[in-house]
Amino acid sequence: MASQTHEALNRTAAESQAGAPGQKKTPCIMVIFGAMGDLTKRKLLPSLYNLAKHNLMSDNFAVVGVSRAQMSHEEFREKQRAVMDQFATDKFDPALGKWLVDRLYYACVNFDDREAYKGLAALLAQLERDCKTGGNVFFYLATAPEFFGVVARNLKGAGLLAEDNGSFRRVIVEKPFGTDLETAKALNRELRQEMEEKQIYRIDHYLGKETVQNILVFRFSNGIFEPIWNRRYIKHVEITVAETVGVESRGGYYETSGALRDMVPNHIFQLVTLISMEPPISFDADAVRDEQTKILRAIAPIPPEEVLSRTARGQYGEGVVAGKHLPAYRSEAKVSPTSNQQTFVAMKLSIDNWRWADVPIYLRTGKAMPKRETEIVIHFRRAPFVLFRHTAIEQLMQNRLILHIQPDEGISLRFGAKVPGPTMKLGTVDMDFSYATRFGSTHSTGYERLIYDCMAGDATLFQRADMVEAAWGVVQPVLDVWQALPPRNFPNYAAGSWGPREADDLLARDERHWTNE
Ligand code: BG6
Repeated sequence: MASQTHEALNRTAAESQAGAPGQKKTPCIMVIFGAMGDLTKRKLLPSLYNLAKHNLMSDNFAVVGVSRAQMSHEEFREKQRAVMDQFATDKFDPALGKWLVDRLYYACVNFDDREAYKGLAALLAQLERDCKTGGNVFFYLATAPEFFGVVARNLKGAGLLAEDNGSFRRVIVEKPFGTDLETAKALNRELRQEMEEKQIYRIDHYLGKETVQNILVFRFSNGIFEPIWNRRYIKHVEITVAETVGVESRGGYYETSGALRDMVPNHIFQLVTLISMEPPISFDADAVRDEQTKILRAIAPIPPEEVLSRTARGQYGEGVVAGKHLPAYRSEAKVSPTSNQQTFVAMKLSIDNWRWADVPIYLRTGKAMPKRETEIVIHFRRAPFVLFRHTAIEQLMQNRLILHIQPDEGISLRFGAKVPGPTMKLGTVDMDFSYATRFGSTHSTGYERLIYDCMAGDATLFQRADMVEAAWGVVQPVLDVWQALPPRNFPNYAAGSWGPREADDLLARDERHWTNE
C-alpha cells in the first residue's frame, strides 16, 4: 500500500515535469506591450522557455514585442538572446533558447497612435499565415496602468479583438487594477467597452505560485481537514507576507501606492479567499471564482470609527536587515523626505458567514522586515478540558497548522506530545512537510501556469471584474480614514524589525501575538 502511494506520487511528480496527458499545445501569437520593460526579460520569456522545456508549447507560436523604441526584429532578438541565459531559472539549454528567439518579432507602436496599430495588424496577419497560428492572439499589457484603456481601445479600433472563425483574442492585464474602488470600476468599464469579460485575463502573480494553488488541493483533496475547517475548531487565522527588501528602485510607484494598495486587495486577498471559500461545485473557472467572490463580499468592511483600532500602519526608518544597513524609506530615491506613505500594514478582518463568524483573520505585510516569509497560520481551539493532572487548561497547547507559501514552501502541523521520562510532561512537536525535500526544487518564474492557462482558455486563476471591485470595496474605508487622518509618528519601525508597536497592540487587544518564528 505504502509503496503504491509512493509510486502514485512519483508518477504525479514526473507528469508535472513532462506535462500531464491531455494538456494542450495551443497555436497562437503572444503580443507583449511594454516589451522593453523588465517583466519581459525577467519573467515572460523565461516562462515561455520553461513551458517549451516541459513540452507545453506549440511549434506554431510567435511572440511580438511592442514598444515605442525603433528596432528591427533582429535587434529585438539580439537584445533578448543576450540576456536569456542570465534570467533562465535553470541550467540554460541554447537549443531551446534558439527555438524561442527564432519566434520573436518586433513592432514599434506608440500606444496612443491609432494608425500604428494598422502596422501591428498587418504583422499579425502575416505571422498567422507563416506560423499557422489559427488567428489566436493574446495581448499581454505589461505597461504602466494609464495605458491599459488606450491600448484596448486602439486594439479594438484596428479590429484586433474580434474573435473570428473560432479563434481567440485575449488580453492579459497586469496589476494594479485601479487605485481604489472608483478607479477600479472605471477601468473595468473602460475594458469592457472594448471587449467581453471572458476575453479579459487580470493577472495576479500570487496565483501562479505552486503553494498558493496547493491550498485548494490541500483543502479539497483530503477528507480530514474540511470537517474541522470552520469556527467550531478554528480560533483565528494569521496571514503574514513579509519582505526583507525596501522599496528599492520603485520609490516613485510606491509613493502613489503604499503597502495597502500594493499587497492587500490583490495578493493577500487571494490567500484569504482560497483559505476560506466554500468547496466549489467544480473546478470550472466561474465555479471557483464565484466562491471566491462570495468570500470577498462576506468580508465585513471596517466601519470608519473602527478603522484606527482594527488596523495598523507603519513606515520603516533606517535599520539593519540580514546584516546589511537599509536606509529609511524617506531617504529612498524618488521618495519625499516627509512622506507619510505606509510600507507596513496590519488589519483584523472578519468574514460574516456561517463558517467563519467570530473567527478573526489577522493579516500583515511589510517591507524591510527581518525575514522574507509568506505564511498562513491556522490556530485551532484548545482541547476542551484538563485530562492530565497538574496541567492547567491554559497550558494546553493549541494545534497550529502553518502553510508556508514562500520561500521554504511546505506545510507543518504542531501538536502536543509526551516528553519522554517517568513523569507526565507535555511538550509540542511539529510535523513538517517540505516541498523541496519531497519534490526537489521547482525552477520556475511563477508565470508559466498563468501564461499556459491563458493560451488554453482557462481563466480560473485570473480575476473577474466583480472580484476586483469587491476587494477594493473592503479596503476603501481604510483608505478613506487613513487619508483623512494622516499618521503622526512615521517612521515608526526600524528596518529589520517586525513592524510598528501598533501591529502588536492589534493582537494584544485580543490577547494574542503574531507568530514571529
Ligand atoms: C508585487 C508588489 O505585486 O509583489 C511588490 O508590487 C512586491 O511590491 C511583490 O514586492 C511581491 O511578490 P513576491 O512574489 O516576491 O512575493
